[in-house]
Amino acid sequence: MSQQKKILVTGGTGYIGSHTCVELLQAGYEVIIIDNLSNSDAGIADRIAEITGKKPILYKADMTDKQEIGEIIASEKNIFSSIHFAAYKAVGESVEKPLMYYANNLNSLINLLDLSLEYGIKNLVFSSSCTVYGQPESLPVTEQTPVVRPESPYGNTKRISEEIMEDFYAAHEDFKGIALRYFNPIGAHPSGLLGELPSGVPNNLIPFVTQTAAGLRDEIKIFGNDYNTPDGTCIRDYINVVDLAKAHVAAIDRLAQNKTKKAFEVFNLGTGRGISVLEIVKGFEEATGVKLKYTMAPRRAGDVEQIYANSSFAENELNWKAEKTLKETLASAWNWEKKIRDIQ
Ligand code: NAD
Ligand code: UD1
Repeated sequence: MSQQKKILVTGGTGYIGSHTCVELLQAGYEVIIIDNLSNSDAGIADRIAEITGKKPILYKADMTDKQEIGEIIASEKNIFSSIHFAAYKAVGESVEKPLMYYANNLNSLINLLDLSLEYGIKNLVFSSSCTVYGQPESLPVTEQTPVVRPESPYGNTKRISEEIMEDFYAAHEDFKGIALRYFNPIGAHPSGLLGELPSGVPNNLIPFVTQTAAGLRDEIKIFGNDYNTPDGTCIRDYINVVDLAKAHVAAIDRLAQNKTKKAFEVFNLGTGRGISVLEIVKGFEEATGVKLKYTMAPRRAGDVEQIYANSSFAENELNWKAEKTLKETLASAWNWEKKIRDIQ
């Protein structure tokens, strides 16, 4: 349901943003990207064009530079909604450089909201995270599960961003906001043209697994096998990035069709499936036929034991559901890793 509405995608050349641009273009939306390319490159816009046959407009600009962003928005006119992905996301780095994270992630959002008021961009979809739940007392997690102070400054920027949005939409009820709480996004585009590009040694499990399979890392360290879970390793809800991207289109459709029930809504985006680290390792081997070397290692500080989503609110209200199997998702991650490493 689209009719060429114009969508401003901040952070649109990043991992989740680029997949979302593809889905938006394929659904008939017009896409304008603002990205400072701090964690992506301009070539991604060409790849989006290669997949969709439509090239998004890309502005290289920093969301913390309010004047420059204001000029771009003023020149574009008639933006129906923004989707705000632009943020720093490395948990460990945020512990070492908290101000860098608060400054980038919060100022970007505040600027965007302020400019939305100024230029009448009535709708916003925001990238939040299940990190706002910490270790929940009961599982699966619904949107009513209490939000706690996240372990890391990065996670805290998500909690504070949601609070900023809550206050903003209480004050401006003709504006609408949707926060999407992602569980663990993984995988890559089936074309092999888009995927995750971590810089340096990956902190997240799937890029570490694919780099180990590619021979860049010696072995996977499984952080903790003494958790209170069936196989002792941590449990997460791994969601395919294309499924996740489609949820953004569903959120935009909801806004376009005036279906929101409150000025500010929050949705969990997961599969509802709790998968252990060991199941990921085994699942990857089965999906790809590649053997992985792994060892058990001590727990990683800050890790929650288990978390997975109840996504029925998104299913009922957004008419969206994660569809891809874990097997095809892991295979897509491997396909992407092989492409970027030139492995046959
Ligand atoms: P990413 O780093 O691949 O994409 C973010 C993009 O934003 C990058 O292209 C980067 O260059 C850009 N950017 C950063 N700061 C900017 C600024 N000040 N101005 C303009 N552009 C800026 O990250 P991602 O994995 O695609 O994540 C997208 C969003 O989803 C982020 O807000 C992230 O916090 C959130 N999120 C990600 C995950 C995950 O596991 N990937 C999980 C939960 C939430
Ligand atoms: C991490 C972030 C979280 C963020 C999410 C986005 C931390 C503490 N949390 O979540 O804030 O929202 O990414 O996807 O970084 N693991 C290993 N070996 C590895 C890497 C990971 O065993 O080399 C395990 C971890 O202990 C965890 C699971 O794999 O149990 C997933 O880890 P990861 O991919 O880093 O994601 P999260 O920690 O869930």
